[in-house]
Amino acid sequence: MAEAQIKESPFSPGRPVQPEYFVARIKEIQRLERSVNQTILGKNENVFITGPRGIGKSSLAGLIKYIAEKHSLIGSHCFLGGVRSLNEMIRMVFQRLLQDCKDESVFDKLKNIFGDYIKSITLFGTGVEFTKDKGELQTLVDNFLPLMRKIYDQIQPNGKKGLTLILDDLNGISDVPQFSQFLKSFVDELATSGKPLPVFLILVGLPERREDLIKHQPSVARIFDVVELPVMAPSESEDFFKEMFDSQNIEVDSDALSLMVNMSGGYPMLMHEVGDAVFWQDKDNRIDINDAGRGISEAAQIVGKKYIDPKISKVLRNKTYASILSKVDTVLWGETFERQEIMKQLPEKEQDSLDNFLRRARGLGIIELSGSRGEYKFANPLYHLYMGFSLAKLSWSKE
Ligand SMILES: Nc1ncnc2c1ncn2[C@@H]1O[C@H](COP(=O)(O)OP(=O)(O)OP(=O)(O)O)[C@@H](O)[C@H]1O
Ligand SMILES: [Mg+2]
Repeated sequence: MAEAQIKESPFSPGRPVQPEYFVARIKEIQRLERSVNQTILGKNENVFITGPRGIGKSSLAGLIKYIAEKHSLIGSHCFLGGVRSLNEMIRMVFQRLLQDCKDESVFDKLKNIFGDYIKSITLFGTGVEFTKDKGELQTLVDNFLPLMRKIYDQIQPNGKKGLTLILDDLNGISDVPQFSQFLKSFVDELATSGKPLPVFLILVGLPERREDLIKHQPSVARIFDVVELPVMAPSESEDFFKEMFDSQNIEVDSDALSLMVNMSGGYPMLMHEVGDAVFWQDKDNRIDINDAGRGISEAAQIVGKKYIDPKISKVLRNKTYASILSKVDTVLWGETFERQEIMKQLPEKEQDSLDNFLRRARGLGIIELSGSRGEYKFANPLYHLYMGFSLAKLSWSKE
């Protein structure tokens, strides 16, 4: 079998990263560790991890759950993507709690607490199925706080010090007004009960999801401390690529390293796409500038197809927009462009469409505002590269 087929890529594009491959985010980890420590001391802590798509929110939440487990908290990391009701949410939360449980004697206790609500179960863990009966699930929603207390009381003798609940991918549930209310009631009831409970509640979502929650219940803003993830610094991205390739005994030339760092723009999601594509270009366990260049072109195609093709094809079908984009596309990597400058380059009949184009491209997440009014940039360098490819394809197809 050829070597290319048996080597294993350390990169995991599209999936939250495993704790052993997690890099950087020291400040955010320290902040969240503080909450883990407060929870162990018996307090309720509430944090909202936010930031743009692909910045590493779920990965960070996953790492914190791992750290919390090391500190004897039991935890559940729920991806609530398609969930649109409190009943479904509660079902997921408790089901996950059992599925994620790593300690058999704790698992048996949870199984007893939820006995009547569990429909089927395979030996220790993975195959736990909760009831779908609406009435039964509503009982779980109504008794959330007493249930959490019961869980805590019962797991304490097993040396467990509390719970971490991570509610991730809030896009469905964040617009359900009862969800915001549920969060507020839980935290307020807990605070006024005079009986502390060590629960670390972590919400994970895009900034818009947090705004949705606040719109329905303004107190959510004060209840949850915000941990906002910025793009990674170039030195952090560099460490990432070095460590990942080093784990497979692959050397990286410094010019290749700089190119990968620059083109992924500090977005871990893009770093994995770039790293993975470059990894598969390499044939001699050494990444040189050619491997990096080819891999990056490949990564731009992959990222474009995954994240922007469905959105941009409509824009490119509009001749005026395609023409405007070709002007915008001439800006240099990472540079900003001004509305006024583009306007000057456009024929008069296209000028009226510029503002519409800018609004649409912003709405699609392809460009974003940068600093002062009227100044824009591509959301990241790979999108920029992909736009170049798309425009080139468009002009070939016309020839
Ligand atoms: N600290 C990190 N170290 C290494 N890789 C990371 C790190 N953070 C994120 N990644 C990688 O970046 C990609 C995106 O991460 P993740 O899924 O955690 O982002 P997200 O913000 O939750 O995205 P979304 O908004 O789509 O839910 C994944 O491939 C993940 O493996
Ligand atoms: Mg995520």
